[in-house]
Parts: sequence; C-alpha cells; structure tokens
Amino acid sequence: MYSRITGTGSFLPPKVMTNHDIEKLVDTSHDWIVERSGIHQRHIVEDETVSEMAEKACRLALEMAGKTADDVDLIVFATTTGDLVFPSSASILQEKLGITNESTAFDVQAVCAGFVFALGVADKFIKSGTHKCALVVGAEAMSRIIDWTDRGTCILFADGAGAVLIEADEEPGILSTHLHTDGRYKKLLYVNGGISDERDVYLKGQAYLQMAGNDVFRFAVKTLGRIADETLEANNMQKSDLDWLVPHQANIRIIQATAKKLKMSMDKVVVTVHKHGNTSSASIPLALDEAIRDGRIQRGQTILLEGFGGGFTWGSALIKY
Ligand code: ACO
Repeated sequence: MYSRITGTGSFLPPKVMTNHDIEKLVDTSHDWIVERSGIHQRHIVEDETVSEMAEKACRLALEMAGKTADDVDLIVFATTTGDLVFPSSASILQEKLGITNESTAFDVQAVCAGFVFALGVADKFIKSGTHKCALVVGAEAMSRIIDWTDRGTCILFADGAGAVLIEADEEPGILSTHLHTDGRYKKLLYVNGGISDERDVYLKGQAYLQMAGNDVFRFAVKTLGRIADETLEANNMQKSDLDWLVPHQANIRIIQATAKKLKMSMDKVVVTVHKHGNTSSASIPLALDEAIRDGRIQRGQTILLEGFGGGFTWGSALIKY
C-alpha cells in the first residue's frame, strides 16, 4: 500500500511587499537582497489567519482530486504560526472545511521542514492502513514573528499556504520519507519567547525569530546535500533518475548548491523564492502546486522534495507523481 498525491492547492495573501518597500524599513537595498537571497518580493498577511489561508489551499486540492471534504479522514497541518495556542490549526481547519466525520486532525511543528515532516507522518498513517485520504498542509504567517527592524531576517520571511491531498493506492506514490532533528543547534535559529520559557518577552509582544544567518546557511547546504544522497540510496536510485527537485525556498544560493550537488540543471528545479520569499512550511507545497498546475511536473515523474529548518530539522520525500 502506498499514498499517492491526487490533488494540490495553494494560496498567497494578496498584499505584496517588494524589496523597495523593505528599503523604507531597514538599512538595505534591493540589489543586496537579490544578490544574497534571490528574493525580489513576498506576500504578507493583512488580517488573514493561517487556517483561512489553509482552507483556500485545501479546497483547491480537493477540487483537483475530485473529492469532497467529507472524504478526508486525516489532516496533518504543519505550522509554526498557528491561529491560536490551541486548539490546533488542524482542528480549526477541519471545522472551516465542514468536516464532521470525527476523523483525525493535528498539527506538526518542524518549522521550515514542517511540510516534509507532515507528509512523512501522513504517509505512515496511510501505509499502516488506518486512514485513506489525507490533507497535508503547510501554512504560515511568518511576518507575525519577524522583527521588522532586523535586516538580517526581515528581508527573507513571508506568508502563504500550500496543501496536497494524498490517497491510499496500490501504485506508488510516495516512495520514502526521511526525517531528522538535531536539537543542539537551537540558538542558531529560534524565537526568543514562548508560553513557558521567556514568557515576559512573549507577553510584551517582543518574541521574534532570531537567526545566525551565515551559520544556518552553511549547515543547510551541507545537510541538504547529505539527505539527497540518503534518499536516493534508500531507493537504489541514481541522481540521474530524478526528474524534478522541489526544495524548501529559503535562499536561491542554497537551492543552487543543492542542485549542483545533485548534478541537476536549474531548469529541473522548481524555484519560487524570487516571488514568494521564505514561507517556511508553506514553501514546498506552494512550489509543488505551481509546477503541477503549469504542467511542468507530469504524472509518472520522480520528484525529490527536501526542506531544512529551525530545530534543526531536515527531511526529504521521494515521490513518483
Ligand atoms: N542588507 C544589507 N546588508 C546586510 C543585510 C541586509 N538586509 N543583512 C546583513 N547585512 C550585512 C551584514 O551586517 C554583514 O556586514 P559586515 O560584513 O559588515 O558584518 C554582511 O551584510 C554579510 O552578512 P552575512 O550574514 O554574512 O550575509 P550572507 O551572505 O550570509 O546572507 C542571509 C545573509 C541572506 C541571511 C543568508 O545567511 C541566509 O540566507 N541564511 C540562511 C537562511 C535560512 O536558510 N534559513 C533556514 C530556514 S528558516 C526556518 O527554518 C525558520
């Protein structure tokens, strides 16, 4: 038994913020941001919540698959910026979609690797035979945890949502997922306030993403290369067997380094970072949906998804689409 992607969907909040808009907030320039990150613009929420964006993405995924919300028996929702402390964004989304079948819905927190983690979890539920039809979502309002006076981070992060519907099938499918965490690197990428630690910072509304950009960059390049090898080896495949790379969209230079390691030309890599920025757990499903809808990714092709994020967390999924 495999799980197979039968629908994808995505949503971006309408408000666009360009690099020139950011030039008005911090000491930076459009050229610096493009040269160091590849980002030209990003979408930012005004009053949209993460679950509202997710609902729009999920409805499109259901429509593509020809399914209704009541067919869904599992929601795995990756987010770091959920609507409320609780209930989970998955619970809120379930209600918004009108699902009343008392099926399973919960959140997964692995920051920018969140979507791959959520996909890995949902795939294992389906392979075990307990569930048949899962919405896997990545949705974020990263702009809400950004210090807009910190030029090292505010140029990078952005908002949006992406979703896939996966269904039980005898044909592959998701071939394998590989999920890793190393908790020793918390101080390189974290939010400096929360519910039970650094609570004063949190209550003052000053809990923001902190990042040692250069250290994260080097670790990400090394790790994403390694996980690509691990994934291909586990499936007895060669680099040349890959049709597409759909990576987490953090920085064009990280994406180019991974493509080079895989000996893939950039026209086999789905890139959205220039127009979406880093939407954390939403970036991979946003990119996947775009390349499926515009016809680049075709049925039967082999796709490598991979992501890296705070934790550190990193993961991959190899998919026969
Ligand atoms: N505009 C102008 N200058 C800047 C800016 C800016 N926005 N930001 C930093 N600088 C300056 C620095 O102060 C530094 O100046 P100095 O040499 O005088 O000290 C110089 O530019 C170089 O800074 P670096 O940090 O070395 O620049 P780098 O080339 O590493 O680019 C960046 C910074 C874009 C943040 C990069 O490190 C990066 O993308 N890191 C990884 C981000 C990432 O992948 N995150 C992972 C996932 S995120 C998640 O999980 C939530």
